[in-house]
Amino acid sequence: MKTLGSTGLSVTPIGLGLAAVGRPGYITAGRDDDLGTDRSVAALEARTHQLLDAAYSRGVRYVDAARSYGLAEQFLSSWLKAHAIPADAITIGSKWGYRYVGDWRLDAPVHEVKDHSLAALRRQLAESRALLGSRLRLYQVHSATFESGVLDNREVLAELVTLSAERLRIGLTVSGPREADVIRRALSLRVDGTSPFHAVQATWNLLEPSAGPALAEAHSAGWGVLVKEALANGRLTDRDLETRAQPLGEMAERRGTSVDALAIAAALANPWADVVLSGAATVDQLLSNLGALEVRLTVSESDGLGSLAQAPEDYWGERAALPWT
Ligand SMILES: NC(=O)c1ccc[n+]([C@@H]2O[C@H](COP(=O)([O-])OP(=O)(O)OC[C@H]3O[C@@H](n4cnc5c(N)ncnc54)[C@H](OP(=O)(O)O)[C@@H]3O)[C@@H](O)[C@H]2O)c1
Repeated sequence: MKTLGSTGLSVTPIGLGLAAVGRPGYITAGRDDDLGTDRSVAALEARTHQLLDAAYSRGVRYVDAARSYGLAEQFLSSWLKAHAIPADAITIGSKWGYRYVGDWRLDAPVHEVKDHSLAALRRQLAESRALLGSRLRLYQVHSATFESGVLDNREVLAELVTLSAERLRIGLTVSGPREADVIRRALSLRVDGTSPFHAVQATWNLLEPSAGPALAEAHSAGWGVLVKEALANGRLTDRDLETRAQPLGEMAERRGTSVDALAIAAALANPWADVVLSGAATVDQLLSNLGALEVRLTVSESDGLGSLAQAPEDYWGERAALPWT
Protein backbone atom coordinates (compact mmCIF):
# COMPACT_ATOMS: atom_id res chain seq x y z
CA MET A 1 0.00 0.00 0.00
CA LYS A 2 1.10 3.56 -0.63
CA THR A 3 -0.41 7.00 -0.21
CA LEU A 4 -1.92 8.84 -3.18
CA GLY A 5 0.24 11.96 -3.17
CA SER A 6 -0.59 13.96 -0.08
CA THR A 7 -4.30 13.05 -0.17
CA GLY A 8 -3.92 10.64 2.75
CA LEU A 9 -5.72 7.98 0.67
CA SER A 10 -4.24 4.47 0.62
CA VAL A 11 -3.82 2.99 -2.83
CA THR A 12 -1.97 0.24 -4.65
CA PRO A 13 0.24 0.71 -7.74
CA ILE A 14 -2.39 -0.94 -9.93
CA GLY A 15 -6.05 0.04 -9.61
CA LEU A 16 -9.10 -1.37 -11.36
CA GLY A 17 -11.13 0.92 -13.65
CA LEU A 18 -14.72 -0.02 -14.45
CA ALA A 19 -15.23 1.82 -17.75
CA ALA A 20 -15.29 -1.40 -19.80
CA VAL A 21 -17.88 -3.25 -17.72
CA GLY A 22 -20.34 -0.70 -16.34
CA ARG A 23 -22.32 -0.36 -19.60
CA PRO A 24 -22.66 -2.41 -22.78
CA GLY A 25 -20.64 -0.16 -25.11
CA TYR A 26 -17.11 1.20 -24.92
CA ILE A 27 -14.35 2.23 -27.33
CA THR A 28 -12.10 -0.85 -27.07
CA ALA A 29 -12.02 -3.26 -30.01
CA GLY A 30 -12.21 -6.72 -28.46
CA ARG A 31 -15.53 -6.50 -26.67
CA ASP A 32 -17.31 -9.18 -28.67
CA ASP A 33 -14.61 -11.66 -27.63
CA ASP A 34 -14.50 -10.39 -24.04
CA LEU A 35 -18.19 -9.98 -23.30
CA GLY A 36 -20.03 -11.87 -26.04
CA THR A 37 -23.53 -10.89 -27.00
CA ASP A 38 -25.09 -11.00 -23.54
CA ARG A 39 -24.57 -7.41 -22.41
CA SER A 40 -27.57 -7.48 -20.07
CA VAL A 41 -27.45 -5.64 -16.76
CA ALA A 42 -27.20 -8.99 -14.94
CA ALA A 43 -24.32 -10.20 -17.15
CA LEU A 44 -22.32 -7.00 -16.74
CA GLU A 45 -22.95 -6.90 -13.01
CA ALA A 46 -21.69 -10.49 -12.74
CA ARG A 47 -18.62 -9.58 -14.83
CA THR A 48 -17.89 -6.53 -12.69
CA HIS A 49 -18.14 -8.66 -9.55
CA GLN A 50 -15.78 -11.29 -11.00
CA LEU A 51 -13.24 -8.60 -11.80
CA LEU A 52 -13.56 -7.02 -8.36
CA ASP A 53 -13.22 -10.44 -6.70
CA ALA A 54 -10.08 -11.23 -8.69
CA ALA A 55 -8.57 -7.79 -8.14
CA TYR A 56 -9.32 -7.70 -4.42
CA SER A 57 -7.97 -11.19 -3.80
CA ARG A 58 -4.72 -10.17 -5.49
CA GLY A 59 -4.33 -7.06 -3.37
CA VAL A 60 -5.72 -4.33 -5.63
CA ARG A 61 -7.06 -1.60 -3.36
CA TYR A 62 -8.04 1.26 -5.67
CA VAL A 63 -11.19 1.23 -7.83
CA ASP A 64 -12.11 3.89 -10.40
CA ALA A 65 -15.70 4.55 -11.48
CA ALA A 66 -17.70 7.45 -12.92
CA ARG A 67 -21.32 8.52 -13.08
CA SER A 68 -21.13 8.05 -16.85
CA TYR A 69 -19.92 4.43 -16.72
CA GLY A 70 -23.51 3.20 -16.92
CA LEU A 71 -24.21 1.24 -13.73
CA ALA A 72 -20.57 0.91 -12.62
CA GLU A 73 -21.13 2.65 -9.27
CA GLN A 74 -24.21 0.50 -8.65
CA PHE A 75 -22.33 -2.72 -9.48
CA LEU A 76 -19.48 -1.65 -7.21
CA SER A 77 -21.95 -0.86 -4.45
CA SER A 78 -23.65 -4.27 -4.70
CA TRP A 79 -20.22 -5.98 -4.60
CA LEU A 80 -19.14 -4.02 -1.50
CA LYS A 81 -22.37 -5.02 0.25
CA ALA A 82 -22.32 -8.67 -0.86
CA HIS A 83 -18.80 -9.14 0.49
CA ALA A 84 -19.19 -6.86 3.50
CA ILE A 85 -15.93 -5.18 2.51
CA PRO A 86 -14.90 -3.08 5.52
CA ALA A 87 -14.97 0.69 5.12
CA ASP A 88 -11.56 1.97 4.05
CA ALA A 89 -10.34 -1.52 3.05
CA ILE A 90 -10.43 -0.23 -0.48
CA THR A 91 -10.18 3.32 -1.82
CA ILE A 92 -12.88 4.37 -4.27
CA GLY A 93 -12.67 7.21 -6.74
CA SER A 94 -15.45 8.31 -9.05
CA LYS A 95 -16.19 11.21 -11.37
CA TRP A 96 -18.85 13.75 -12.21
CA GLY A 97 -19.29 15.81 -15.36
CA TYR A 98 -20.60 13.29 -17.91
CA ARG A 99 -24.07 11.74 -17.88
CA TYR A 100 -24.69 8.29 -19.38
CA VAL A 101 -27.44 8.59 -22.00
CA GLY A 102 -26.82 5.38 -23.97
CA ASP A 103 -30.05 3.69 -22.86
CA TRP A 104 -28.13 0.39 -22.50
CA ARG A 105 -27.86 0.15 -26.29
CA LEU A 106 -24.76 -0.41 -28.42
CA ASP A 107 -26.25 1.58 -31.29
CA ALA A 108 -27.13 4.63 -29.21
CA PRO A 109 -26.38 7.77 -31.25
CA VAL A 110 -24.80 9.35 -28.15
CA HIS A 111 -23.47 7.49 -25.11
CA GLU A 112 -22.53 10.31 -22.76
CA VAL A 113 -23.19 14.03 -22.45
CA LYS A 114 -20.84 16.48 -20.79
CA ASP A 115 -22.07 19.01 -18.22
CA HIS A 116 -19.59 20.73 -15.90
CA SER A 117 -22.10 23.05 -14.26
CA LEU A 118 -22.56 23.49 -10.52
CA ALA A 119 -26.00 21.88 -10.82
CA ALA A 120 -24.44 18.80 -12.44
CA LEU A 121 -21.81 18.56 -9.69
CA ARG A 122 -24.44 18.71 -6.97
CA ARG A 123 -26.79 16.28 -8.68
CA GLN A 124 -24.12 13.74 -9.56
CA LEU A 125 -22.38 13.88 -6.19
CA ALA A 126 -25.72 13.13 -4.52
CA GLU A 127 -26.19 10.18 -6.92
CA SER A 128 -22.68 8.84 -6.28
CA ARG A 129 -23.09 9.20 -2.52
CA ALA A 130 -26.48 7.47 -2.60
CA LEU A 131 -24.67 4.40 -3.96
CA LEU A 132 -21.26 4.61 -2.31
CA GLY A 133 -21.87 6.70 0.80
CA SER A 134 -18.77 7.69 2.73
CA ARG A 135 -16.77 5.03 0.89
CA LEU A 136 -16.42 7.53 -1.92
CA ARG A 137 -13.06 9.16 -1.15
CA LEU A 138 -11.93 10.79 -4.40
CA TYR A 139 -14.30 12.74 -6.66
CA GLN A 140 -12.93 13.94 -9.97
CA VAL A 141 -14.05 16.37 -12.63
CA HIS A 142 -14.47 14.05 -15.62
CA SER A 143 -12.36 15.27 -18.55
CA ALA A 144 -11.68 18.87 -17.59
CA THR A 145 -10.86 20.89 -20.71
CA PHE A 146 -10.44 24.57 -21.46
CA GLU A 147 -13.56 24.38 -23.64
CA SER A 148 -15.78 23.00 -20.86
CA GLY A 149 -15.12 26.16 -18.83
CA VAL A 150 -14.89 24.22 -15.57
CA LEU A 151 -11.50 25.65 -14.64
CA ASP A 152 -12.91 29.19 -14.94
CA ASN A 153 -16.15 28.49 -13.11
CA ARG A 154 -15.62 30.14 -9.72
CA GLU A 155 -18.86 28.68 -8.30
CA VAL A 156 -17.81 25.13 -9.12
CA LEU A 157 -14.26 25.65 -7.88
CA ALA A 158 -15.51 27.15 -4.60
CA GLU A 159 -17.86 24.18 -4.14
CA LEU A 160 -14.97 21.77 -4.73
CA VAL A 161 -12.92 23.53 -2.05
CA THR A 162 -15.85 23.22 0.38
CA LEU A 163 -16.27 19.54 -0.43
CA SER A 164 -12.59 18.82 0.07
CA ALA A 165 -12.88 20.07 3.62
CA GLU A 166 -15.08 17.02 4.20
CA ARG A 167 -13.93 13.40 3.93
CA LEU A 168 -13.71 13.71 0.19
CA ARG A 169 -10.58 14.51 -1.79
CA ILE A 170 -10.98 16.29 -5.12
CA GLY A 171 -9.29 15.61 -8.44
CA LEU A 172 -9.67 16.14 -12.15
CA THR A 173 -9.18 13.89 -15.14
CA VAL A 174 -7.77 15.11 -18.43
CA SER A 175 -7.81 13.87 -22.01
CA GLY A 176 -6.70 15.14 -25.39
CA PRO A 177 -3.61 16.74 -26.92
CA ARG A 178 -3.68 19.62 -24.40
CA GLU A 179 -3.59 17.42 -21.28
CA ALA A 180 -0.34 19.02 -20.07
CA ASP A 181 -1.71 22.57 -20.47
CA VAL A 182 -4.88 21.70 -18.55
CA ILE A 183 -2.88 20.07 -15.74
CA ARG A 184 -0.66 23.16 -15.42
CA ARG A 185 -3.67 25.47 -15.42
CA ALA A 186 -5.31 23.35 -12.69
CA LEU A 187 -2.07 23.40 -10.68
CA SER A 188 -2.09 27.19 -10.72
CA LEU A 189 -5.71 27.60 -9.57
CA ARG A 190 -6.52 28.95 -6.11
CA VAL A 191 -9.80 29.81 -4.40
CA ASP A 192 -9.07 32.14 -1.50
CA GLY A 193 -5.53 30.78 -1.46
CA THR A 194 -6.59 27.10 -1.54
CA SER A 195 -6.12 24.68 -4.42
CA PRO A 196 -9.39 22.93 -5.29
CA PHE A 197 -7.52 19.84 -6.53
CA HIS A 198 -5.38 17.17 -4.88
CA ALA A 199 -5.13 14.59 -7.65
CA VAL A 200 -5.06 14.21 -11.40
CA GLN A 201 -5.91 11.25 -13.62
CA ALA A 202 -4.37 11.48 -17.08
CA THR A 203 -3.65 9.41 -20.13
CA TRP A 204 -0.03 8.36 -20.30
CA ASN A 205 1.11 5.49 -22.45
CA LEU A 206 3.99 4.58 -24.73
CA LEU A 207 2.15 6.01 -27.74
CA GLU A 208 1.13 9.24 -25.95
CA PRO A 209 3.57 10.20 -23.18
CA SER A 210 3.32 13.98 -23.65
CA ALA A 211 1.64 14.67 -20.29
CA GLY A 212 4.65 13.21 -18.43
CA PRO A 213 6.45 16.46 -17.50
CA ALA A 214 3.22 18.12 -16.28
CA LEU A 215 2.39 14.99 -14.26
CA ALA A 216 5.85 15.17 -12.70
CA GLU A 217 5.07 18.78 -11.67
CA ALA A 218 1.73 17.68 -10.21
CA HIS A 219 3.49 14.97 -8.23
CA SER A 220 6.07 17.46 -6.94
CA ALA A 221 3.19 19.70 -5.82
CA GLY A 222 1.91 16.84 -3.66
CA TRP A 223 -0.94 15.79 -5.93
CA GLY A 224 -1.83 12.15 -6.38
CA VAL A 225 -1.22 11.01 -9.96
CA LEU A 226 -3.30 8.27 -11.57
CA VAL A 227 -2.61 6.93 -15.07
CA LYS A 228 -5.45 5.86 -17.33
CA GLU A 229 -5.37 4.28 -20.79
CA ALA A 230 -1.91 2.80 -20.22
CA LEU A 231 -2.74 0.29 -22.98
CA ALA A 232 -3.98 2.95 -25.40
CA ASN A 233 -7.48 1.46 -25.16
CA GLY A 234 -6.26 -2.01 -26.07
CA ARG A 235 -3.83 -1.01 -28.83
CA LEU A 236 -0.79 -1.89 -26.67
CA THR A 237 -1.73 -5.55 -26.31
CA ASP A 238 -1.29 -8.82 -28.15
CA ARG A 239 -4.27 -7.78 -30.29
CA ASP A 240 -2.18 -5.19 -32.12
CA LEU A 241 1.09 -7.02 -32.62
CA GLU A 242 1.10 -6.36 -36.34
CA THR A 243 1.27 -2.60 -35.89
CA ARG A 244 1.76 -0.42 -32.81
CA ALA A 245 2.73 -3.08 -30.31
CA GLN A 246 5.24 -4.92 -32.50
CA PRO A 247 8.42 -3.82 -30.64
CA LEU A 248 6.70 -4.66 -27.37
CA GLY A 249 5.83 -8.11 -28.69
CA GLU A 250 9.49 -8.90 -29.31
CA MET A 251 10.49 -7.61 -25.87
CA ALA A 252 7.65 -9.49 -24.18
CA GLU A 253 8.80 -12.73 -25.79
CA ARG A 254 12.39 -12.14 -24.62
CA ARG A 255 11.23 -11.28 -21.10
CA GLY A 256 8.65 -14.06 -20.84
CA THR A 257 5.83 -11.65 -20.11
CA SER A 258 2.87 -10.13 -21.95
CA VAL A 259 2.70 -7.01 -24.11
CA ASP A 260 0.12 -5.41 -21.81
CA ALA A 261 2.23 -6.14 -18.72
CA LEU A 262 5.19 -4.40 -20.37
CA ALA A 263 3.08 -1.37 -21.33
CA ILE A 264 1.73 -1.06 -17.79
CA ALA A 265 5.24 -1.60 -16.37
CA ALA A 266 6.42 1.32 -18.51
CA ALA A 267 3.72 3.52 -16.94
CA LEU A 268 4.59 2.29 -13.44
CA ALA A 269 8.26 3.11 -14.05
CA ASN A 270 7.46 6.83 -14.06
CA PRO A 271 8.53 8.09 -10.64
CA TRP A 272 5.50 10.38 -10.53
CA ALA A 273 2.92 7.63 -11.11
CA ASP A 274 1.04 6.63 -7.96
CA VAL A 275 -1.60 4.38 -9.54
CA VAL A 276 -1.88 2.86 -13.01
CA LEU A 277 -5.39 1.74 -13.88
CA SER A 278 -6.15 -1.62 -15.41
CA GLY A 279 -9.21 -1.35 -17.66
CA ALA A 280 -9.55 -5.13 -17.97
CA ALA A 281 -12.81 -6.53 -19.30
CA THR A 282 -11.99 -10.15 -18.35
CA VAL A 283 -10.28 -11.78 -15.39
CA ASP A 284 -7.59 -13.18 -17.70
CA GLN A 285 -6.80 -9.67 -18.92
CA LEU A 286 -6.63 -8.43 -15.35
CA LEU A 287 -4.20 -11.19 -14.37
CA SER A 288 -2.07 -10.44 -17.41
CA ASN A 289 -2.13 -6.70 -16.57
CA LEU A 290 -1.07 -7.46 -12.98
CA GLY A 291 1.99 -9.21 -14.43
CA ALA A 292 3.38 -5.66 -14.73
CA LEU A 293 4.16 -5.77 -11.02
CA GLU A 294 6.82 -8.44 -11.75
CA VAL A 295 8.49 -6.46 -14.55
CA ARG A 296 11.36 -4.05 -13.98
CA LEU A 297 12.37 -2.29 -17.17
CA THR A 298 16.03 -1.43 -17.61
CA VAL A 299 16.93 2.13 -18.54
CA SER A 300 17.95 1.07 -22.04
CA GLU A 301 14.68 -0.83 -22.47
CA SER A 302 12.67 2.23 -21.37
CA ASP A 303 14.69 4.48 -23.67
CA GLY A 304 14.12 2.10 -26.57
CA LEU A 305 10.36 2.13 -26.00
CA GLY A 306 10.40 5.93 -26.26
CA SER A 307 10.46 5.49 -30.04
CA LEU A 308 6.85 4.28 -29.96
CA ALA A 309 5.53 7.78 -29.17
CA GLN A 310 3.22 9.37 -31.73
CA ALA A 311 2.52 13.06 -32.26
CA PRO A 312 -0.20 13.87 -29.69
CA GLU A 313 -2.58 15.20 -32.39
CA ASP A 314 -2.23 11.91 -34.32
CA TYR A 315 -2.78 9.81 -31.21
CA TRP A 316 -5.88 11.72 -30.12
CA GLY A 317 -7.21 11.82 -33.68
CA GLU A 318 -7.02 8.00 -33.81
CA ARG A 319 -8.60 7.71 -30.38
CA ALA A 320 -11.49 10.00 -31.36
CA ALA A 321 -12.20 7.70 -34.30
CA LEU A 322 -12.54 4.55 -32.17
CA PRO A 323 -16.11 3.28 -32.51
CA TRP A 324 -18.26 2.27 -29.52
CA THR A 325 -18.72 -1.51 -29.71
N1 LIG B 1 -11.54 10.62 -18.92
C1 LIG B 1 -11.36 9.71 -18.00
O1 LIG B 1 -11.42 10.03 -16.85
C2 LIG B 1 -11.09 8.28 -18.38
C3 LIG B 1 -11.03 7.93 -19.73
C4 LIG B 1 -10.71 6.61 -20.04
C5 LIG B 1 -10.47 5.69 -19.03
N2 LIG B 1 -10.53 6.05 -17.72
C6 LIG B 1 -10.28 5.07 -16.63
O2 LIG B 1 -9.12 4.33 -16.93
C7 LIG B 1 -9.40 2.93 -16.96
C8 LIG B 1 -8.52 2.28 -18.00
O3 LIG B 1 -8.71 2.90 -19.27
P1 LIG B 1 -9.17 2.13 -20.58
O4 LIG B 1 -9.83 0.86 -20.22
O5 LIG B 1 -9.90 3.07 -21.43
O6 LIG B 1 -7.83 1.89 -21.34
P2 LIG B 1 -6.67 0.80 -21.35
O7 LIG B 1 -6.31 0.36 -19.98
O8 LIG B 1 -5.66 1.45 -22.18
O9 LIG B 1 -7.32 -0.42 -22.18
C9 LIG B 1 -8.07 -1.42 -21.56
C10 LIG B 1 -8.53 -2.40 -22.62
O10 LIG B 1 -7.41 -3.06 -23.21
C11 LIG B 1 -7.78 -4.38 -23.58
N3 LIG B 1 -6.91 -5.31 -22.82
C12 LIG B 1 -6.51 -5.21 -21.53
N4 LIG B 1 -5.73 -6.26 -21.20
C13 LIG B 1 -5.62 -7.02 -22.32
C14 LIG B 1 -4.95 -8.24 -22.60
N5 LIG B 1 -4.22 -8.87 -21.69
N6 LIG B 1 -5.06 -8.74 -23.86
C15 LIG B 1 -5.80 -8.10 -24.80
N7 LIG B 1 -6.47 -6.96 -24.58
C16 LIG B 1 -6.38 -6.42 -23.35
C17 LIG B 1 -9.24 -4.54 -23.20
O11 LIG B 1 -10.05 -4.12 -24.29
P3 LIG B 1 -10.45 -5.09 -25.51
O12 LIG B 1 -10.34 -6.50 -25.07
O13 LIG B 1 -11.84 -4.68 -25.85
O14 LIG B 1 -9.48 -4.73 -26.62
C18 LIG B 1 -9.39 -3.52 -22.07
O15 LIG B 1 -10.73 -3.13 -21.88
C19 LIG B 1 -10.90 2.85 -17.25
O16 LIG B 1 -11.50 1.67 -16.79
C20 LIG B 1 -11.41 4.06 -16.48
O17 LIG B 1 -11.55 3.71 -15.13
C21 LIG B 1 -10.83 7.35 -17.38
